[in-house]
Amino acid sequence: MVSRMKIIVTGGAGFLGSHIVDHLLKQGENIFIIDNFSTGTLENIAHHLGKRNFNFSKADLRRPEEWMQSFKDARVVFHYAANPDVKTSVLDPETHFNENILATFNVLEAVRKYDVEYMIFASSSTVYGEPALIPTPENYTPMEPISIYGAFKLACENLISTYARLYGFRYLIIRYANIVGKRSNHGVIYDFVNKLRKNSSVLDILGDGTQKKSYMYVDDAIDATIHLYSLLLRGKLDDYIFNVGSEDWITVLDIANIVVKEMGLSDVVFHLNPQTEDGRGWVGDVKLMLLDISKLKKTGFTPRYSSYDAVTQAVKDYIGNMRK
Ligand SMILES: NC(=O)c1ccc[n+]([C@@H]2O[C@H](COP(=O)([O-])OP(=O)(O)OC[C@H]3O[C@@H](n4cnc5c(N)ncnc54)[C@H](O)[C@@H]3O)[C@@H](O)[C@H]2O)c1
Repeated sequence: MVSRMKIIVTGGAGFLGSHIVDHLLKQGENIFIIDNFSTGTLENIAHHLGKRNFNFSKADLRRPEEWMQSFKDARVVFHYAANPDVKTSVLDPETHFNENILATFNVLEAVRKYDVEYMIFASSSTVYGEPALIPTPENYTPMEPISIYGAFKLACENLISTYARLYGFRYLIIRYANIVGKRSNHGVIYDFVNKLRKNSSVLDILGDGTQKKSYMYVDDAIDATIHLYSLLLRGKLDDYIFNVGSEDWITVLDIANIVVKEMGLSDVVFHLNPQTEDGRGWVGDVKLMLLDISKLKKTGFTPRYSSYDAVTQAVKDYIGNMRK
């Protein structure tokens, strides 16, 4: 891999972005983070402060005048900044439009203006909506997202591939399953642990608990990302869209049981709260999600953690971090 490239990481102070930054800095790259710290934290990147090849700008992707010129001399952008909250996207599409579509458009304009050579985009399993085929492969059609978040991710994918064709850069679109682990600041594990800390006898569960999805541990997700990225740089990828997830799935009730066990609790009563007639946790919640990762595996990467082990490890990480 070529070293000391200038690499922009949008959302580099967030959960996934900060892990990407850790890896790229270890490889000796020159990292520049753009993050508005809306959900990201300084704590996630504090261990890099003062390093010669590490810089960050507190700036908002919705306002390109704040950061556009930092793209000068950049060869790569990992575009990981977004509003990742599927639930609120359905309630407030305009905010999500600005934080996902407008932000991505502005990044693409910077890529175009400064001739950035590679763009890596954090997409999502939600682009598939409720596919008839599970596990779902990358070429599944019709793609009919059921949340505004999923629709905006799909729109961003289209924008990126069209910009790449028109203006000549290489790109990688990664459709992540649910990623869990160190530094995660949202999602079902975070929600359950915090509720049980407040009240350890009752757990309110969004939905009927039968929602069944794939969970991937963050180390696996980042290793897969860096693996695909290095193949891209070496010209060894003949395709640019990859599912990244674990090979199996578990239910929300399984997760509740793991959290209860790892917190050392017993006799917790589960209160199920279906928000739709068919038992979803919220409008726009996909009930069944398992990605077909055979394409990823063919490139030589296999995840180490099952969904059960990923969730168990993530609960341990979260509880451990709270005790510090
Ligand atoms: N975590 C998952 O399970 C998962 C799954 C699929 C896709 N993704 C995608 O991966 C990416 C990272 O997600 P995450 O889970 O790390 O979330 P996160 O909230 O921890 O990270 C998002 C980062 O983007 C920053 N940000 C948001 N809006 C911004 C703006 N307008 N300008 C500048 N910075 C801004 C936030 O401060 C934060 O640091 C997102 O694009 C998300 O949609 C995540």
